[in-house]
Amino acid sequence: MCGIVGYVGPKSVESVLLVGLTRLEYRGYDSAGIAVIDKGDLEIRKEKGKIKDLEKLLHANPVEGSIGIGHTRWATHGEPDRVNAHPHADTRRKIAVVHNGIVENYQKFKAELTKRGHVFHSETDTEVIPHILEDLLSQGKTMAQAMQHCVDHLEGRYAFVAIYEREPDRLYFARNGSPLVYGRGHKEGFLASDVSAIIPAAREQVQIENNQWGWVTRDTLHLHNGTGTELPVTPVKIELKLAHLDKGDFDHYMLKEIYEQPDMLRRIIQARMTDDGKVEFPESVLTNEYQGRISRILITSAGTSWHAGMIGKIYLENFAKIATEVDISSEFRYRNPIAEGDTMVIAISQSGETADTLAGIHEAKAKFCRVLSFVNNTTSTIARESDAIIDLRAGPEIGVASTKAYTAQVLNLLLYAIHLAGIKWLISKEDRQIMFQEIRKVPQKIDEILSRAHILKEWAQDFRETKDFVFLGRHYNHPTALEGALKLKEISYIHASGYAGGEFKHGPIALITEEVPVVCIAPQSEVYEKMFSNIQEVKARKGKIIAIHSEGDEQTPAAADYSFAIPQAPDYLNPLLAVIPLQLLAYYTAIERGCEPDQPRNLAKSVTVE
Ligand code: F6R
Repeated sequence: MCGIVGYVGPKSVESVLLVGLTRLEYRGYDSAGIAVIDKGDLEIRKEKGKIKDLEKLLHANPVEGSIGIGHTRWATHGEPDRVNAHPHADTRRKIAVVHNGIVENYQKFKAELTKRGHVFHSETDTEVIPHILEDLLSQGKTMAQAMQHCVDHLEGRYAFVAIYEREPDRLYFARNGSPLVYGRGHKEGFLASDVSAIIPAAREQVQIENNQWGWVTRDTLHLHNGTGTELPVTPVKIELKLAHLDKGDFDHYMLKEIYEQPDMLRRIIQARMTDDGKVEFPESVLTNEYQGRISRILITSAGTSWHAGMIGKIYLENFAKIATEVDISSEFRYRNPIAEGDTMVIAISQSGETADTLAGIHEAKAKFCRVLSFVNNTTSTIARESDAIIDLRAGPEIGVASTKAYTAQVLNLLLYAIHLAGIKWLISKEDRQIMFQEIRKVPQKIDEILSRAHILKEWAQDFRETKDFVFLGRHYNHPTALEGALKLKEISYIHASGYAGGEFKHGPIALITEEVPVVCIAPQSEVYEKMFSNIQEVKARKGKIIAIHSEGDEQTPAAADYSFAIPQAPDYLNPLLAVIPLQLLAYYTAIERGCEPDQPRNLAKSVTVE
């Protein structure tokens, strides 16, 4: 949440910052700004809205220089307007700061500094930082001493970057909780919330860790720990390529990412499943001896990753016979989960930066549980703070609504459950190979579903004015119903709720009218007949039925108003297939309604506040 970028080097700082901010826009897009030291003076430009609005402002009123910082905001404190936009400055406008996170004790600083004559303009927590720095400089402290003071006294989660007019060759930074990476190019230095903002110019990176602070010059990074000791730095090569961030011929990242799913799943299958019936997770350092002992699993994750976790629970219980609980991360830490015996915690996170999930990991560690994280970003904070990781291998996901990371999570969780079942001798090699044959067919089946995307596009025209949707599914597809509803509401702003089919009659059925479409996920499985009963219940109340059913089923399409067939598959693979038409339905409905699917209102891709 919020993207920050800093640059010092020979290029036009304005354009480096704008490119970086555009790549970070997925982290927030309600206002943006930059600060540059222009011919010795600190210049700040900021604007409400997206980066293109800031660009317009800069076109009319440009800045020049070789050092600067930029910010794209997802508002926490103070409404999204120009005054609250970052960068924020001190009273004399000599220091500018961009910040991602929340300074929890800002009120205390603000009150003290106001008494001492500092003038604040915004409602943000961030604005105290340049004022604290200014105050300390006026007492004779150096910037380095002032930064150390901030690390000692600021509470909450933050990553911030500061520039000071009198030191136009360095970017000061500090981190506690929110992500920050240093990038080194040729005689140029970068800081950013993630490396996507600074490639290809930055070729090597250093992840800044909690309680670290320092400064960046054109040539190097000066890094200190929380007690002020200078640390050695070992930059590592940045593997991410610009081509990974390209939208290609697609109108939106979300659509591109939906279409990437077959090849992505092929790559995961290729990397994980061996010809002799084994599943391999070479990046996980957990031993078979330990994994064979696991008696209980607690899964913690948020949003779409929580839905994947719900399916993961079924896999782990069905195949590996391990009692598994799944919690929304923001609840997990408050329910004081019991962790006895060999309880392992699984955290699932595409970004690897979700604050709630990270807090869940801290809770798990406090209970001495080992943490295995399924992450798409292997250098993320969650990856670094876990005992072991499983790399989702989805490739960069830029669309704010998660699509391919979800199917990557589901497949990796299935493979992990099979892996554990293998360690515990619960599934024979022959049975595993039968499962593998079915899993290998999934990408081709998704290709086939995608070839009929035009059907969903046509349906979407009928739902332009729809106000409410209901999604129903059972067993493996209860989470699919929740995910279908989440996708639709987050990008098309239509209210949508997902329910377990059996729960429908216990209340939600009261919602059904002719105006409310009900998406019934009813592929062939042991719960098919029960789902068909749900369809009948909706029909009896004149609800509009949108059915997702298996090919060859004639009964369901006959009862439905809209029906979409998915290829037949074993029930445990149905969620990977059934979610695809729901992703497309959400996407095309959003387009019909004139919504921007890659940047839905009020959302951000990486949720780094609790
Ligand atoms: C919805 C979506 C969110 C995320 C959630 C967790 O499309 O993307 O619900 O799934 O914010 O994010 P990660 O997986 O990064 O921890």
